[in-house]
Amino acid sequence: MPEYKTVKVNVGKGYDVLIGGGLLSDCGGLIAGAVGKCRAAVITDSNVEKLYLKTVLDSLKTADIDAVSFTFPAGEENKNISVLSDILEFMAENRLGRGDIVIALGGGVTGDMAGFAAAVYLRGVRYVQLPTTLLAAVDSSVGGKTAIDLTRGKNLAGAFKQPETVICDTDTLKTLSPYQMSNGMAEAIKTGVLFDRNLFCMFDGDVSGERLESVIEQCVRYKGHIVEIDEKERNERRLLNLGHTIGHAIEKCSEYKMGHGHAVAAGMAMICRAGEKLGVTEPGTAEAVCDTLRRFDLPTNTDYNTGDLVSAALSDKKRSGGTITFVVPERIGKCVLTTEPVEALGRYIELGKDK
Ligand SMILES: NC(=O)c1ccc[n+]([C@@H]2O[C@H](COP(=O)([O-])OP(=O)(O)OC[C@H]3O[C@@H](n4cnc5c(N)ncnc54)[C@H](O)[C@@H]3O)[C@@H](O)[C@H]2O)c1
Ligand SMILES: [Zn+2]
Repeated sequence: MPEYKTVKVNVGKGYDVLIGGGLLSDCGGLIAGAVGKCRAAVITDSNVEKLYLKTVLDSLKTADIDAVSFTFPAGEENKNISVLSDILEFMAENRLGRGDIVIALGGGVTGDMAGFAAAVYLRGVRYVQLPTTLLAAVDSSVGGKTAIDLTRGKNLAGAFKQPETVICDTDTLKTLSPYQMSNGMAEAIKTGVLFDRNLFCMFDGDVSGERLESVIEQCVRYKGHIVEIDEKERNERRLLNLGHTIGHAIEKCSEYKMGHGHAVAAGMAMICRAGEKLGVTEPGTAEAVCDTLRRFDLPTNTDYNTGDLVSAALSDKKRSGGTITFVVPERIGKCVLTTEPVEALGRYIELGKDK
């Protein structure tokens, strides 16, 4: 068994997040240890299938877990109700029972959709996350938010459903494109800006090998802690939306051609700039954040018209009544929530633009 780090997330009955190189080859035994004797439906996308499905199925077989697998075409556009329906029908056809499990093998798209399928199939079966993107490793595989997109917007239907365990094989990240690596780095950098200057400083150098594992471990620890105190995003969990209000608007204006992390990076840079101009954010923060983002080829600004961004953001579900909540850094490692009338959004975007 390869060495790995363990982070415990104490939500519900609690679960372990295992982080280390080579874990997929042993995932069967690790899963059996977490969930006991059962059958499994492995859900994956067409890219990840080619790279890692066989390793997972072989390991499940060795651990005496009888498994079936379902592959959907890769891409955010497939995180929809039609593919969800196919997954549910597949589980029913294969007579997956109450005691059986769903295994999400892939990035955030797979994790969100397979997790949602697990939340609703037979009114809920257990599931396991095997994240294979950096974004899924540092963010989406932990915390229990599951969702699909609807025609009117992203993540509009979903459920809170915590996994039984998360097994992150860091070797899988070696096959990610540089774009996908940066996409995940953005959420990791966000964690540093939110909670920890030392973590933020780790992005000064090359982030790979041991250092990457340590970054993932710390991000999971911070996210796990926030989810422990506010699972349903009523208070503190909203901090994790740093850069997301403007980021979602940018993502939407790009018609989702821009990756989630890339859009969040630009959103984060912009809220830092706006915060400095409003006297909330310590001077120099925006520059430090932008320098770090640029090191990973992440954007720090947007050319989209402010009116278009406002319309895109206001159709987003994170609006509540006539107010909108921003996450604004006071300094690196400390951010605050500020609730403003929705009309303030345009001003924040204007102040945030690097003109
Ligand atoms: N639930 C949450 O808390 C949460 C948090 C953040 C983001 N999200 C969601 O996550 C999704 C984005 O996740 P993502 O960026 O992982 O997208 P993704 O799952 O689409 O993966 C990105 C691309 O990388 C490919 N891929 C995956 N693993 C690979 C590997 N090891 N090697 C090579 N290619 C690989 C995929 O096939 C896909 O083409 C969005 O839908 C977003 O809404 C959810
Ligand atoms: Zn995000």
